[in-house]
Amino acid sequence: MSPDWPAHGGRIAPLLARYGLPADHPVIDFSANLNPLGPPAWLAEWLAGAGDALARYPDPDDDRARRAIATHDGVAPERVLVTNGGIEAIYLTAALHAGGRALVIEPTFSEYALACRQHGLTVSRLALEGPAFRLDLDAAEAALAGVDVAFLCRPNNPTGTLVPRADVERLLARAGETGTTLVVDEAFVDFTDGDERLTPLLAGAPNLLLLRSLTKLFDLPGLRIGYLLGAPALVRGARARQMPWSVNALALGLVARLLADADYLARTRDWLVGQRPAMPEAVRELGYGVPATQANYFLLGGGWQAQEAEALFAFLLRRGLLARHTHGFPGLDGRWLRLALRDGPDNARLLAALAEWRRR
Ligand SMILES: Cc1ncc(COP(=O)(O)O)c(C=O)c1O
Repeated sequence: MSPDWPAHGGRIAPLLARYGLPADHPVIDFSANLNPLGPPAWLAEWLAGAGDALARYPDPDDDRARRAIATHDGVAPERVLVTNGGIEAIYLTAALHAGGRALVIEPTFSEYALACRQHGLTVSRLALEGPAFRLDLDAAEAALAGVDVAFLCRPNNPTGTLVPRADVERLLARAGETGTTLVVDEAFVDFTDGDERLTPLLAGAPNLLLLRSLTKLFDLPGLRIGYLLGAPALVRGARARQMPWSVNALALGLVARLLADADYLARTRDWLVGQRPAMPEAVRELGYGVPATQANYFLLGGGWQAQEAEALFAFLLRRGLLARHTHGFPGLDGRWLRLALRDGPDNARLLAALAEWRRR
């Protein structure tokens, strides 16, 4: 990947610079997959009153956040580890299998492979074939042989596709035979149509880890809250590798409040129902290739070369619409763009720009 393509979404400044646009060029960010409702309205007041928490170290014995998650997800507290964002859960998972062999099902979030490399794992890859990006289950089962840890993102970033639950169950059974820990990253699971969380599988699966994030759902990327669910032995192993005070006191203090905000969750659901499948379908009707998505984002492309995707990227950015490039996603290699679902007016602007591009 060329150095002037930032590795993650939400990085506006380097992309404006890349296209010679002024730093104050107004931009609607479709590149980061965050809840467009913004953080819950009560949060600002809560933070204003939380100053005391900053004058103390986070209390390692205070497990209110862990208990709130356990209650919310219907698991024992021993199965929960609160982490510094979903990202820390990924790196702890890699640390747990340091020096071993990993399988990453791609194209997917780049951090699985990076975390594995940081912890000395050898990474092998299994490709989801575009344009539908379906998992070949037989190939996946075969690929588990000799693998210590396998990463599956569900729904997948950046494709938005969701490996059927029955297929995950088969993979999990096979992983039991091969001695593999199956890691399912559920960072975007709150945005699927039905309840796709795999929590019920945990009870019978000592080799399953589920990774979650509150970042996307509550639009809180700056706060860093995530967690990991799994068998108590795996959770203890991950905790032993976690840095002291890894999760800050504000994040710990907020978990229970966030999870209890039923009104916010209902409003999120209403927004989602209004935009999906309507928005991806409207884009498809303009003649773009858009794989079926179960997430709060969708891919755009199919049959393009990277230059064509880049030309559209630049066209959108000049109109103040920031897409996510796909350089750095093996198998996509810049030939697709990823777009977040935003609110109705933003999505309408995007649609108008995409229609204009087709009319050129
Ligand atoms: C699939 C996936 N998992 C985890 C993360 C990290 O989430 P967090 O911001 O909670 O660390 C991301 C962030 O983009 C992601 O796309």
